[in-house]
Amino acid sequence: MSRIEALQGWVDARFPLTAMWKEHIGEYYAPKNFNFWYYFGSLALLVLVMQILTGIFLTMNYKPDAANAFASVEYIMRDVSWGWLIRYMHSTGASMFFVVVYLHMFRGLMYGSFRAPRELVWVVGVVIYLALMAEAFMGYLLPWGQMSYWGAQVIVNLFSAVPFIGPDLSLWIRGDYVVSDATLNRFFAFHVIALPIVLLGLVVVHIIALHEVGSNNPDGVDIKKLKDPKTGRPVDGIPFHPYYTVKDMVGATVFLIVFSAIVFFAPEMGGYFLEANNFIPADPLKTPEHIAPVWYFTPFYSVLRAVPPMFGSQFPGVAAMGAAVVILFAVPWLDRSPVRSIRYRGPLFKRWLATFIVAFIVLGYLGIKPTGVWGIVPAGIPLLGGAPVATVVAQICTLVYFAFFVAMPWYTARDTYQPVPERVTV
Ligand code: HEM
Repeated sequence: MSRIEALQGWVDARFPLTAMWKEHIGEYYAPKNFNFWYYFGSLALLVLVMQILTGIFLTMNYKPDAANAFASVEYIMRDVSWGWLIRYMHSTGASMFFVVVYLHMFRGLMYGSFRAPRELVWVVGVVIYLALMAEAFMGYLLPWGQMSYWGAQVIVNLFSAVPFIGPDLSLWIRGDYVVSDATLNRFFAFHVIALPIVLLGLVVVHIIALHEVGSNNPDGVDIKKLKDPKTGRPVDGIPFHPYYTVKDMVGATVFLIVFSAIVFFAPEMGGYFLEANNFIPADPLKTPEHIAPVWYFTPFYSVLRAVPPMFGSQFPGVAAMGAAVVILFAVPWLDRSPVRSIRYRGPLFKRWLATFIVAFIVLGYLGIKPTGVWGIVPAGIPLLGGAPVATVVAQICTLVYFAFFVAMPWYTARDTYQPVPERVTV
């Protein structure tokens, strides 16, 4: 027995290290037909680790103080050795996190990964998504630029539209009557410690839940049904290590090339990753002409703007925006198709999913633009006459967005489907 083996035995007698390795990596049998879309879970994990590491180094020089925050970020960019790199990695990482997570969620919808027995994997995923939005929103306040300040002002003010408790609620969140030093301090606490802990914990739960039931795959075939009688292993399964550790390393390499290209050549990404207005220090006395959230929030921002106020209250829009995220929780129970994967579904589901994605992208695009930019619908068109075109388009896309979910029990039950093969296809 080598010394390493002896050490391993010593640890294993005290902590189930080898057993955990085997259960989750060495002997975790994953379907052998994972494709491109299966890179994004491990990439999300990579970005999470990168955000935490770069975040630790940023925190060493950042000052969570309204009087010093903006200058401390500039100090990081100009004076701290490699500070610019750490900061750009962190700001690019935030946007890339959402790119990766949106593709990861789309994969889930496409292949029916949210369906039994993986409902909890999906539900925990949606909680992760909510936590990630909170994490990004609070992080965005920290540079204390004009957009940080006014973006937070707008979003926190939305809570005051909640009936009865609204004004107290927004006051409670801000810790002041306007976004101020108190707000910055609490957002900093949530951004650097509370939410990262929650996110890490949720990701662990997400993966444990997935490994309890096993991964889905592009065919939606249940690989546990067909096992080798001798070994008891699924015939369509391969051990995660070395097969998927190596495959994921290829994904990570390509991802890091794209990531580096952005960090080194276009860290602002044309104003989409870092907005020009945020290079101006926060000024509570000067509202920017156009306040837009970062791109990953804009689909929901469009939903908010698409729903008109009722009795002078913005609450319907705020509720619709909240519902647009919360409705994701229900997906596992809305789908009535006898098959999981899009490969064996009929035209109805395919068309609905495609239309939903288009609506989501259009909502995202419109959310970046100030309302009314595209002129006014001619008054000759009944109902729509007089409204800005962008608003009408956003309203239609909002309806499509919700219809995708609300009508799901109907169109998935009515849709045709093909028989699912017994074994995975390659
Ligand atoms: C920090 C964010 C996240 C991380 C680190 C993460 C990580 C992972 C990993 C490593 C896997 C296994 C590999 C793979 O299937 O790609 C996975 C699977 C899965 N994730 Fe996530 N995830 C995150 C967010 C989400 C979100 C937001 C959702 C949905 C709302 C989601 C839903 C799923 C589902 C349904 C599966 C099972 C996929 C299948 O077996 O086909 N995840 N996740």
